[in-house]
Amino acid sequence: MNVCEYKPGLEGIPAAQSSISYVDGKQGILEYRGIRIEELAVKSTFLETAYLLIWGELPNKEELETFENEIRYHRRIKYRIRDMMKCFPETGHPMDALQASAAALGLFYSKRALDNPAYIREAAVRLLAKIPTMVAAFQLMRKGNDAVKPNDELDYAANFLYMLNEREPDPLAARIFDICLTLHAEHTINASTFSAMVTASTLTDPYAVVASAVGTLAGPLHGGANEEVITMLEEIGSVENVRPYLDRCFEEKSKIMGFGHRVYKVKDPRATILQELAEQLFEKFGRDQYYDIAIEMERVVEERLGEKGIYANVDFYSGLVYRKLGIPTDLFTPVFAIARVAGWLAHWKEQLGENRIFRPTQIYRGRRDASYTPIKERM
Ligand code: SDX
Repeated sequence: MNVCEYKPGLEGIPAAQSSISYVDGKQGILEYRGIRIEELAVKSTFLETAYLLIWGELPNKEELETFENEIRYHRRIKYRIRDMMKCFPETGHPMDALQASAAALGLFYSKRALDNPAYIREAAVRLLAKIPTMVAAFQLMRKGNDAVKPNDELDYAANFLYMLNEREPDPLAARIFDICLTLHAEHTINASTFSAMVTASTLTDPYAVVASAVGTLAGPLHGGANEEVITMLEEIGSVENVRPYLDRCFEEKSKIMGFGHRVYKVKDPRATILQELAEQLFEKFGRDQYYDIAIEMERVVEERLGEKGIYANVDFYSGLVYRKLGIPTDLFTPVFAIARVAGWLAHWKEQLGENRIFRPTQIYRGRRDASYTPIKERM
């Protein structure tokens, strides 16, 4: 075996073979199972896309209906999960609440049978179905309200907005939210997916796989950036403040949230679609006060850092869409998680198909052959 050079962050090191999604970072191309994201965004739905990601092919009409009905059937969560969530501090971050609740599902569905396709399917359905319910339940309960039960009349995206806002959403809002879920569903071996794969490779249960991925997604360098973008736009406050704010960032070499990507060296294709979706929403429901600031930021960052391949990523415009949909800022990353569960599950299933436990090596830089100093002799 060749001894490889150490690469911080494993940049450019293949850690798996996969047939789930493909990214061309120079041309800004993203495909799920070979189908361009632009086409899926317009023609598919999130649940159909989730099926495609997990089982590898688009479902036929009957398969899709069966899958949607299974999801509908499993949307409710046990009252014990709700009671557990009621005990979480209302000041806690919803991503922590989600991670704990996803892990807690394992307590209720503990009979693991990883070599049984029916078990894989049921676990995938449960996770896809229950995670939105848990996110919405925490949101209502932390405000002191009862959680709203899922509405069987509504599809996946509309039902989430209904559980969150306690009223049926506008059809355009629901459709746009569904597209957002499709856009966020999968993205090759990103940090949270890698986390999911490492956890999966130990043959633990799928609830632990998803819980570990949720914890990884939460960080500001990954999914947590969507929340940070809105905080940054609020701090900037006006178009005139954009350049001075960014000049400070360039001078201090601080990271500008919502920009840059390990793989894309051009604008993330998902950011382009999300920007279009934001504009559609503004046309119907009014322009967001921060949109002009965001456009100016993108212009200045491109001018200064475009040469280095730093452009807007998926997290830059998603928050503006979510704000218009009435989603609170600290739920932006949980909403990302609702979508990414599909990708995590696809990689879980793929990992199980040809599993070998992840156990890389390290380059040891510490001392050798040191001796133990008794505490009295230590300085
Ligand atoms: C997601 O991987 C995925 O696929 C993730 C994701 C998905 O769908 O799963 O696409 C979702 O996580 C999107 C990214 C969200 N994060 C942010 O928006 C946070 C801000 N961006 C970054 O910190 C950064 O760009 C990363 C974390 C996204 C990528 O980090 P890398 O590949 O390790 O790059 P780096 O930090 O080593 O930066 C390389 C150079 C540095 O300059 P030099 O020291 O070489 O001169 O680019 C600069 C960096 O300073 N740089 C930035 C920058 N991002 C990189 N400079 C200013 N602002 C930035 N945002």
